[in-house]
Amino acid sequence: MKKFTSVADIGNIQQAVAEALKVKADRFAFKEFGKDKTLLMLFFNSSLRTRLSTQKAAMNLGMNVMVLDVNQGAWKLETERGVVMDGDKAEHLLEAIPVMASYCDLIGVRSFAGLVNKEDDYNEKVLSQFIKYSGRPVFSMEAATGHPLQAFADIITIEEHKTKQRPKVVLTWAPHPRALPQAVPNSFAQWSVAAGYDVVITHPEGYELAPEFTAGATIEYNQEKAFEGADFIYAKNWSAFADPNYGKILSTDRSWTVDTAKMALTDNAFFMHCLPVRRNMIVTDDVIESPRSLVIPEAANREISAQTVIKRMLEGLK
Ligand code: CP
Repeated sequence: MKKFTSVADIGNIQQAVAEALKVKADRFAFKEFGKDKTLLMLFFNSSLRTRLSTQKAAMNLGMNVMVLDVNQGAWKLETERGVVMDGDKAEHLLEAIPVMASYCDLIGVRSFAGLVNKEDDYNEKVLSQFIKYSGRPVFSMEAATGHPLQAFADIITIEEHKTKQRPKVVLTWAPHPRALPQAVPNSFAQWSVAAGYDVVITHPEGYELAPEFTAGATIEYNQEKAFEGADFIYAKNWSAFADPNYGKILSTDRSWTVDTAKMALTDNAFFMHCLPVRRNMIVTDDVIESPRSLVIPEAANREISAQTVIKRMLEGLK
């Protein structure tokens, strides 16, 4: 595997899940794969789970790991070509990428959407330059439009808990005080459809996601109707995608918060969220603390999704 940025890169999902479960059954069985290999993890944005789970995954595979918080301690990077660099940015990405690549074998990049310029975000302006100029296999640790390591972990978690061949999986928008990117819901929708689930997306009008990510899912604007008979509820906030409101908050309506009454409409559904989560905005304390909440096993599976992807990239180096 030379890159991992979307569901297309993983191939057959059932095979990928089977491989992930094999990794999970004995995560130290592949320790020789990463011997004398180095992973560079680059963070343009904050992280708890991605940082720790990906580092742990690489260590399970016997790799050396370097972590760089680009905005803390490194030179400030210019990403635009043609700019007269007379401001506060001391280094250009076009030098920084090959230099960093010379120190490692694989690169993981976290670079969120700016939510200002939709074209830049949906062209993955930063991640795509790493793919183009590094000469190394590159994987997304959440980019502007997708969070595939999260979606892969979500699918592993659903496969471990589902009791029906084709569960009803509901992705629900929920309120949040800040404008958030569409990366997590984009990937979750895309991967859930690809996994063959009955996928319903519910949100207030105006929060429609990019059609390229939601193809195959049903859109239902009535949240309570969407929850009826659901097997999994996946909550997430996102900002508007559609023009002219790209990146804007259109609603903070707390009637969309996932609570016990809404969960009672489901078929005893499991509750999921990628974390970090704003309690009593996205979901009530009672729901996230209930025995049907999967937020902790879901986060734990981030180590497994990362290890499966890194393992495939190491196999590609041979
Ligand atoms: N879910 C997730 O990616 O968490 P972090 O932002 O903490 O890495």
